[in-house]
Amino acid sequence: MHYTDRPALHVGIIMDGNGRWAKSHGLARVAGHARGARRVSEIVRVCPDLGITHLTLYAFSTENWQRPLTEIDGLMRLFEQYICGKMAALRSHDVRVRFVGMRHRVPEGLQKLMARLESHTSGCSRLNLTIAIDYGSRDEITRAVRNLAGQAAGGGLRPEAIDEARFGGALDTAELPDPDLIIRTSGEQRVSNFLLWQGIYAEYTFPPEPWPEFTAAHLRREIEAFGHRHRRFGLVDEPEPGPQLGGASG
Ligand code: IPE
Ligand code: IPE
Ligand code: MG
Repeated sequence: MHYTDRPALHVGIIMDGNGRWAKSHGLARVAGHARGARRVSEIVRVCPDLGITHLTLYAFSTENWQRPLTEIDGLMRLFEQYICGKMAALRSHDVRVRFVGMRHRVPEGLQKLMARLESHTSGCSRLNLTIAIDYGSRDEITRAVRNLAGQAAGGGLRPEAIDEARFGGALDTAELPDPDLIIRTSGEQRVSNFLLWQGIYAEYTFPPEPWPEFTAAHLRREIEAFGHRHRRFGLVDEPEPGPQLGGASG
């Protein structure tokens, strides 16, 4: 089977626990982020073997701007280093990279690198890697509403034409399938503003490992556990015999 024919499997990862990992090793928080950044390549590389077609990594939230300036600077530098360092390898591994989030608030140099990496890998298709930087679901939804409201006010869009598909198409993730599995490392059990609209039927796992210690083997374990989950999407497993409401007659 050619890999473009594979069924989609979209995994989102909330890469959490860098700061606690650093603290437990007597290091500065930024050193934890640097360690975390080094985990990304192994995880990206193993995705196709695990059947993952889409990987979305939560790297920086809209709330993370409230952290100390030195930590924010360190993170922005790490994003730049990651993009510069992996530009060629990502394309040679046939990874298409997209960014979601606000974009215009990150340093200009980083904005340019993000655009360059997107265009450099736009022809790739083995893995769809999406990196969420300055991303928050509420912000994304608010921007989508503003955009659609603007179109409606301009007369180009009838309010009745706004349905779920249209709305989803106005989000940053318009080109992506909904996530099937969202993994949050380091044991915290919350969503922290990640893929709220898109994740309504995602399965969640909360592995205990902090992100700097999360390996390909751990990802494999999470995917195997996901394979045993029973997803119902609001339906019933086996309809009871007898007349079905709304079923076809005759
Ligand atoms: C996740 O690690 C990385 C970002 C949020 C940028 P944290 O920095 O949140 O690590 P903890 O949660 O403090 O351990
Ligand atoms: C969520 O982690 C954001 C990222 C991993 C990028 P946080 O560490 O910022 O979330 P809270 O503050 O613990 O909810
Ligand atoms: Mg955290």
